[in-house]
Amino acid sequence: MRAIINYIFFSISIFSFKYIVAQDTAQISEQLYRPQLHYTPTKGWMNDPNGMFYKDGIYHLYFQHNPDSNVWGPMHWGHATSIDLINWKQQPIAIYPDNIGMIFSGSAVVDEKNTAGFGTKNKPAIIAIFTQHNMEGEKLGRTDFQNQSIAYSNDNGYTWKMYKANPVIKNPGIKDFRDPKVIWHEPTHKWIMVLAVKNKVSFYSSPNLKEWTKESDFGASMGSHDGVWECPDLFMLNSNHQTYWVLTSSINPGGPNKGSATQYFIGNFDGHTFTSHSKKTKWMDYGADNYAGVTWSNTGAEKISMGWMSNWMYAQQVPTVNWRSAMTIPRNLSIQNINGETYLTADANKYLNGLPKITKNLSSGYGSLNDNKDKSNVKLYKISFKENNLSPFTISLSNNKGEHIDFGYDSTINQFFIDRTDAGVHDFNSEFAVKHFAPRISISKSTSIYALIDKTSIEFFADNGLTVMTDIFFSTSPYSKIKIVSNNKEAIKTNFKFDSFIK
Ligand code: FRU
Repeated sequence: MRAIINYIFFSISIFSFKYIVAQDTAQISEQLYRPQLHYTPTKGWMNDPNGMFYKDGIYHLYFQHNPDSNVWGPMHWGHATSIDLINWKQQPIAIYPDNIGMIFSGSAVVDEKNTAGFGTKNKPAIIAIFTQHNMEGEKLGRTDFQNQSIAYSNDNGYTWKMYKANPVIKNPGIKDFRDPKVIWHEPTHKWIMVLAVKNKVSFYSSPNLKEWTKESDFGASMGSHDGVWECPDLFMLNSNHQTYWVLTSSINPGGPNKGSATQYFIGNFDGHTFTSHSKKTKWMDYGADNYAGVTWSNTGAEKISMGWMSNWMYAQQVPTVNWRSAMTIPRNLSIQNINGETYLTADANKYLNGLPKITKNLSSGYGSLNDNKDKSNVKLYKISFKENNLSPFTISLSNNKGEHIDFGYDSTINQFFIDRTDAGVHDFNSEFAVKHFAPRISISKSTSIYALIDKTSIEFFADNGLTVMTDIFFSTSPYSKIKIVSNNKEAIKTNFKFDSFIK
């Protein structure tokens, strides 16, 4: 009897010990790692942003979501809304898997002309177009397990009904056949879909979002082919009275700093085929942690992009407990010409400028990050630096545990970098603790850079967003000190500063 009682007592203690340890890890991870400005799901797993559209003053963000686990699994479309793309409100799950399959990535459009007949011209329906992935089909070794389906919403994106005649595009027997991004093409008066197909994209057109005709393929001999193409996007940008068509496509693996990344092509789209102006492979972001990004629908000429701030190399192993992954900060995209080549630039200032903050000049080149008067304990910083004559520099953020993240410019190779080798916890994956490089694209003598730091991420925008790097990290206590190493004392004196945001 005594042995039984002892055994029960022992089991209960072990159970409570495990429970307390798990609770502690969860609490520590919440306190240390959950960003303040970047969207994260309340709980569960998140990957790609999906179906983003803007209507009546509200930005809708859907996302690949496994609500019951912190690793990838049965995919739903989670949902969040915002009026400024910075403060988010999580909404109930938008679209659930059904017997056709899980709900993979895709897009959403406002059907203003009621082409699909799900709404009226006065009250347009929102149509979501996405891939349904059939797990049973995949397990049985079939090749046609990814098909394109649609769902519609008559209440501006809060509740959704599946179209009864799904799928709208049947798989022709190709394993990787997914992630439809749909736009309205005014000149041909049709919907255009760009779809990732193995390691290229295909274009389809439709008058009503239900019947689709294949138009063409792009990419067999363009860009990187070191992995599968995923989550493409197609949009128009105006610059200097000229119109450019931009085609983006994420690729995994094959990114410039390994694993997942997004390449882009600038050229022309005539409603049927896309032609690129250049053979050069260009990357939206050279960091390791900006994937599957696409632009918001229904925002007029303004093109706003947001990506998943992680990398398939380690996304399912990072040390957060209740939730996994954040989205990047929203970025406005533009075009810039450098020596006859056109490039995309990305800028987040529009979303940061309006936030309350305390600005500090660090004319001595170093300082403390958290000696402001703000009592709210927000640890969110924008660090900026400008030079008339670009010279090598390294900016370091560090804590009292010897952990530090460094970023800057290396003139011997003309590259920007982020070094997260000693930034904090990294034992979850051997590829994590490395230094990442990005080419300097600008040829100007002067430079202006800024970086946004939000607990577990750094987004580094150089030369007005011509070179961008996004990396995540997991310091075991918040960074409290900042310093710059550079010979350009004059630039440090006048142009090295940080904003400490107050929420
Ligand atoms: C990209 C991706 C997509 C797919 C989704 C599944 O990260 O692999 O191609 O639709 O994730 O969650």
